[in-house]
Amino acid sequence: MSQTPPPSGTERFDAPAVIAAKRDRHALTDEQIDWVVDAYTRGVVAPEQMSALAMAILLNGMDRREIARWTNAMIASGERMDFSSLSRPTADKHSTGGVGDKITLPLAPLVAACGVAVPQLSGRGLGHTGGTLDKLESIPGWRAALSNEEMLAQLEDVGAVICAAGTGLAPADKKLYALRDVTGTVEAIPLIASSIMSKKIAEGTGALVLDVKVGSGAFMKTEENARELAETMVALGTDAGVTTVALLTDMSTPLGLTAGNALEVRESVEVLAGGGPSDVVDLTLALAREMLAAAGRTDVDPADALADGRAMDAWRRMISAQGGDPDAPLPTARETHVVTAESDGVLTTLDAFGVGVSAWRLGAGRSRPGEDVQAGAGIELHAKPGDEVRAGAPLMTLHTDTPERFERALEALEGAVRVEATASGVGGAS
Ligand code: URA
Repeated sequence: MSQTPPPSGTERFDAPAVIAAKRDRHALTDEQIDWVVDAYTRGVVAPEQMSALAMAILLNGMDRREIARWTNAMIASGERMDFSSLSRPTADKHSTGGVGDKITLPLAPLVAACGVAVPQLSGRGLGHTGGTLDKLESIPGWRAALSNEEMLAQLEDVGAVICAAGTGLAPADKKLYALRDVTGTVEAIPLIASSIMSKKIAEGTGALVLDVKVGSGAFMKTEENARELAETMVALGTDAGVTTVALLTDMSTPLGLTAGNALEVRESVEVLAGGGPSDVVDLTLALAREMLAAAGRTDVDPADALADGRAMDAWRRMISAQGGDPDAPLPTARETHVVTAESDGVLTTLDAFGVGVSAWRLGAGRSRPGEDVQAGAGIELHAKPGDEVRAGAPLMTLHTDTPERFERALEALEGAVRVEATASGVGGAS
């Protein structure tokens, strides 16, 4: 064990001692965890100290008690919302993030149309994964920021809200998340689980369905890690009195046929109109059934609400309530570039990570915090794995306002798209 200075001044602990304890593979005590999360939020623990601790947690892990205590400390750093005055039960869903994952858009109004309120606090894009708020902001007039009172009123009236989390909700997580993003410490399961669950528990939902993504386009690349993350989050939610279930779903190839903000809104509206790609429809219905069951409504079938237009009505009311015009044309990018198949064959690979990075480089995501995203940028897919393609047929269309981005976007697709002619012959894309 290394020598660490004794506690000093008015603080109960010293950061170096807490960092050293985790560095040396000890479990942190409840008191150490409460203190370090609170002291970091107050600015007493410096960012470089918290980043050292986050790295020690990434390398040495935390046990279930530590993760639960860390989650509670992050919840205690801010306010808790309360939806108990609503006339219907609440259920929320959280996806750990992927490429083309627009499911929240059709899902929230669909579940609302079935009688369960959906208080969906969403985020912006992170790295190669898209953000729900960025997508909805491509609808003219739509605004992400609502007060707690506005959110409650819309939940009672429309039944669904998708908005930004206020600054008062788990501020420790906001600060820590930004730090992890730039210190290589995002991928720690204890930190991801506590980050997600602190916000969901503080938000006050009665039931929660977690869509834990696994594959190249997800933060969890292996099923083993995804399962561990799912089990950790389900335990945290259950212990906090939130009915919590998790699905593990594939993110090795993009979801649906679009990746990019306005492109994904368009596809979501197609789903609400009764069309859309089957993988998006199937996952939307599967998650809706889980949310309804977790909220105690096993008597309704969401497929009916999708088919008879009730989900579309809820969507239109949800968008209008936040200032958006559901009938306004969506923005489109100024320039396009079509990627075609070089040979006849079957599309065997369409890698989610490559497509996500490419869409991001086209302008659908940010390279610096606070940067504007391009509403029309992204990728439209014309084929999915398993489809037969002919030489020269379009595989995908790249969209951007700034054509100088095409070169690096195409680089991201190298190796991400494979057309195989036979079991031995390999084609490609150009
Ligand atoms: N989403 C979050 O909110 N937090 C994480 O740590 C990862 C994904």
